[in-house]
Amino acid sequence: SETDRAARIEAAREALDDDVVVLGHNYQRREIVEHADFVGDSYELSTRAAESDAEYVIFAGVTFMAESADIITDDDQTVLLPSMEASCPMAGMAEALQVDATWEKIESAAGGREVIPVTYMNSYADLKAFCAEQGGLVCTSSNAADAFEWAFERGDAVLFLPDKHLGRNTAAELGVDSVTEWDPWDADSPDAAAAADADAILWDGYCQVHERFDVEHVERVREERGASVIVHPECRREVVVAADEAGSTSQICDTVANADPGETWAIGTEIHLVNHLRRWHPEVDVVPLCGDACMDCNAMRQIDPNYLTWLLESLADGEVHNAVEVAPREKELAGVALDRMLEL
Ligand code: 13P
Ligand code: SF4
Repeated sequence: SETDRAARIEAAREALDDDVVVLGHNYQRREIVEHADFVGDSYELSTRAAESDAEYVIFAGVTFMAESADIITDDDQTVLLPSMEASCPMAGMAEALQVDATWEKIESAAGGREVIPVTYMNSYADLKAFCAEQGGLVCTSSNAADAFEWAFERGDAVLFLPDKHLGRNTAAELGVDSVTEWDPWDADSPDAAAAADADAILWDGYCQVHERFDVEHVERVREERGASVIVHPECRREVVVAADEAGSTSQICDTVANADPGETWAIGTEIHLVNHLRRWHPEVDVVPLCGDACMDCNAMRQIDPNYLTWLLESLADGEVHNAVEVAPREKELAGVALDRMLEL
C-alpha cells in the first residue's frame, strides 16, 4: 500500500541521514514530492544540489535535469535518477550530432553573418557543450530574453534550440520580428531567403505536453469560470498572447502564491503541478486550463514511487544504481555554457 511504501522510503532516508538529498521537480507526482527535500524548477533544483553536502543526489525529474545537476555539483557528489527511462522528448529533438552536422548549413543560410547558438536548459549536456564551443550559452524559460540579448551583443543572429515556441515567444517579447523556423528533417529547410534576413532562427522542436493547449481552452475557462490564465512559455505563441500571463514553473507557483483568496487561476502546464498548487494553496481556486485528463508528461511519469523506494533502499544497503555521469570534456564545456547563463 501507499502507507507501507511511504514508511519504507522514510526508513531508508533515516538510515542514510545526510548522505542523500532528494530533489523533486514541480511536475512529479504527489507520492514523490512528499518525500523530496526540495521541490522546484529544473534550474533551482540543480543549485540546491550544488549547495548541499550530500554525497548522493537523487533527482526525481528527467535525464537532462540530472545531467545539469551532475555538471553543477562537486566531483565527490553522485547524481542518481530513479528511472533511466525518464527522457524529455523535446531534449531528444535536438541531438548534438545532428546540430553539429547542420551547423555549416545554418551559417551559410544566414549569409555568413555570425550566428550565436542559445540552447534551452531542456537539452542534453553534449548540446550545451556544442553551444559553448560555438560562443553560445544556455538559458531557462525565465531568462531566455536576457540570453537573446547577450547573443545579439556578440553576433548577428540567434539559433535557438530545441523549443521553437519558447524561441518565438522570447523573440516577440523583445520585439524581434525577423524570425524563421529551421526544420532539420526537411531537405528544403530553411528557406534560405528567410534565414539570410532572420535575427532569430528557431530549431523545430517542441514540448508535446504544452503544444496541446489552444486558444479555445483559454476562451472557455474565462467564460465558464471567470478565470485569469497563466501558461508556460513552451505553449504556442497564440496561446501565450491569449493568456493573461506566461511564466516558468516557478513563476506560475509565485503567481498562485500571491493571488488573493477566492481568485480563480487557470494554469496551462503539466497537470501534476496544477494539482500540487491546488493542495498548497486551497484558498485560491486553481483549475487546469483544459480539464483534468490531458496534460500528463510521460517522461516525468517514468519516475514511479516504487523506483524511488528501490533506489533509496539499495543505497542504504551500500549499492549505487542509476548514476548519471556526464563525460569530463562535455562536463567542462557545458559548465562554460551554464556559467555564461549565471553571469547574465
Ligand atoms: P522548468 O525549467 O520550469 O522546471 O520546466 C521544465 C520543463 O520541463 C517544462 O516543460
Ligand atoms: Fe519535456 Fe515537456 Fe515533459 Fe517538460 S513537460 S519534461 S519539456 S516533455
